[in-house]
Amino acid sequence: MADPKDETPGPTPHDRQVAENLGVSADDPHTSPANPENRISLERQAADAENAEQILRNVPDHIVGVKPRSEREPRRKVTRRVGKKIVEVQSTGHSWDGIEEYDNPLPRWWLWTFYVTIVWALVYALAFPAVPLLKGTTQGFLGYTPRDQVEAEIRRFDEANAPVETRLASVELTDIQGDPELLNYANNAGAAVFRTYCAQCHGSGAGGNPGYPNLLDNDWLWGGSIEDIHLTVMHGIRSPDDDDTRYSEMPRFGIDGLLDDREIDQVTQYVLSLAGLPHKQSLARDGAEVFEDQCVACHAEDGTGDRMQGAPDLTDAVWLYNVDGQADEATIRRIIHDGPFGVMPAWSGRLSESHIRAVSAYVHGLGGGE
Ligand code: HEC
Ligand code: HEC
Repeated sequence: MADPKDETPGPTPHDRQVAENLGVSADDPHTSPANPENRISLERQAADAENAEQILRNVPDHIVGVKPRSEREPRRKVTRRVGKKIVEVQSTGHSWDGIEEYDNPLPRWWLWTFYVTIVWALVYALAFPAVPLLKGTTQGFLGYTPRDQVEAEIRRFDEANAPVETRLASVELTDIQGDPELLNYANNAGAAVFRTYCAQCHGSGAGGNPGYPNLLDNDWLWGGSIEDIHLTVMHGIRSPDDDDTRYSEMPRFGIDGLLDDREIDQVTQYVLSLAGLPHKQSLARDGAEVFEDQCVACHAEDGTGDRMQGAPDLTDAVWLYNVDGQADEATIRRIIHDGPFGVMPAWSGRLSESHIRAVSAYVHGLGGGE
């Protein structure tokens, strides 16, 4: 016996009626209402057709389709008031429920304004750079470019600043502070240089970020005199593209296996004790020995650091690598394990001498200058 599921039932008389109403074939499986897969779409079609008919029945006759010209009312003269005058105008022959459309001319002032804007646009497009081309734009017969204007303006300022810039670049660094005109210029120009080139790392207020020192305080890695700062900015710190860069390298005690985990724990506790922070006494005692062996060469016997090597003071409350300058044990341990390697770019090839001096004087004047 055949499986009953294989038998497709043929269209019923009702299906045939539905198919006929929709103008489709009841015997084609793609359109037959007998096929359950078609049912939804066929029902939709039937409902849509019904709706459309309903809508058409409610629309007034004269709106259904535009009448051919021959059936429209003829164009004729009608009178109407304009201010005090009675004028005659043409009707367009369009009329809806007795409302007629007049063929009024546009007001003259409007028309003339319109023509003037067209002429203006044409003249403007010819006179100024206007039409975009593949490269640049059309130049315009006036030869105007905003770029020239900006360049001229910059040149004007450069020329006005040239004497003070030359002086700034040639005086003794230490004389800048005693010269009000120079100092004022250096502070303004320096602040602009700082915002452009230094703020990304040192923060817009120069307050620093983890790994990027705060330049507002009087805690200096490499020195806070104007000469020290100038040298730092000129040649950078551990800058790979400057042979005179300030250089030192704290060993990677954990990564390179110079100390084992226990010794790192001990010396971490000792560093905390140096700064007067809570620490584990017994570990710190052994850490003192590790410190003596491994760290004093740079951080000094008492942990106060060494500016010749840019080694920070570990006894104060200022922390280079810790978030918000707050000491936290995990960061200190990580620094000892991984080794720090802060890089500050050299600016000697990138900024002019006067700008380097300006930004150095600006940083020096921020509060921590020595
Ligand atoms: C790409 C990041 C970066 C930029 C940009 C940068 N610096 Fe630095 N700067 C550093 C880092 C990192 C250090 C600390 C290096 C270290 O660990 O010894 C530093 C250190 C310094 C120091 C030494 C601070 C001290 O305590 O001795 C000065 C001064 C300084 N920067 C000034 C500037 C100025 C001025 C500019 C802009 C012209 C600038 N920096 C731009 C990353 C940067
Ligand atoms: C060769 C010199 C040198 C030696 C040896 C050295 N350090 Fe450092 N240390 C530095 C320098 C330089 C920095 C910061 C420079 C940087 O940013 O790269 C630093 C930074 C640190 C910091 C981060 C300080 C902060 O303010 O966030 C800690 C902590 C530290 N050292 C601990 C140690 C300990 C502990 C040892 C011994 C196990 C040690 N250092 C050995 C040079 C040294």
